[in-house]
Amino acid sequence: MKWYNLFSSFYDSSLEKLYFESRQRAVELLDLKPNQTILDVACGTGANFKHIKATNIEVSIWATDFSEGMLQKAQSTIDKNNWENIGLFQADARELTTSFVKEKTNKDLSFDRIICTLGLSVIPEWERVLDQMLGLLNENGRIVIMDAFADKRRFNTWLVEMVARGDMNRKIWQTLEPKVDNFHQEYLPVNEIKIGGKLFAATGTKK
Ligand SMILES: C[S@@+](CC[C@H](N)C(=O)[O-])C[C@H]1O[C@@H](n2cnc3c(N)ncnc32)[C@H](O)[C@@H]1O
Repeated sequence: MKWYNLFSSFYDSSLEKLYFESRQRAVELLDLKPNQTILDVACGTGANFKHIKATNIEVSIWATDFSEGMLQKAQSTIDKNNWENIGLFQADARELTTSFVKEKTNKDLSFDRIICTLGLSVIPEWERVLDQMLGLLNENGRIVIMDAFADKRRFNTWLVEMVARGDMNRKIWQTLEPKVDNFHQEYLPVNEIKIGGKLFAATGTKK
């Protein structure tokens, strides 16, 4: 996590524009309804928050990340914008069970929506994280995954993997598909040359 503590100081300035439109679409796929509770897993600097807030739908957001540096950035963005109803907690996404979340937040939380953007290509044992997230979803709850995948490897694939400490060979949507109902996958607008691959969103509802 040391790398992401350091990366937090220039993460937003280097990546915000690149992923702006795709984040908008990922949030649209959440299909938010008023008063829902959302969990943003591996939330980083909280780059998804502004897109959720821009919907003007009143929801409660909980967001978690392993890196203290990323969470500090997320908190300062929340403070700067005077955003309400966003709670942060530090966690290894591989440990995200209902009891673990309760221990971290002192609340009996359950989630109508879960979003994870650019997280599963980075976190080791990502299949386990996927299962933990699905375990935290309410009945009829929806999960949205946005991540990068290299259909063919280029120089920038290697570069982005090195900078993000990620693996762009993971066919995350294929693992998600049998685990959810109403599965949907699409490619998102992004500069494929810059990110060294394609960006996809995959979504579905709790089985
Ligand atoms: C590429 S960043 C994505 C951040 C954010 N979701 C976004 O869309 O910009 C990957 C994030 O995964 C976090 N991360 C890595 N391993 C993790 C783990 N085991 N548990 C939780 N978060 C982790 C990093 O700290 C980092 O914030």
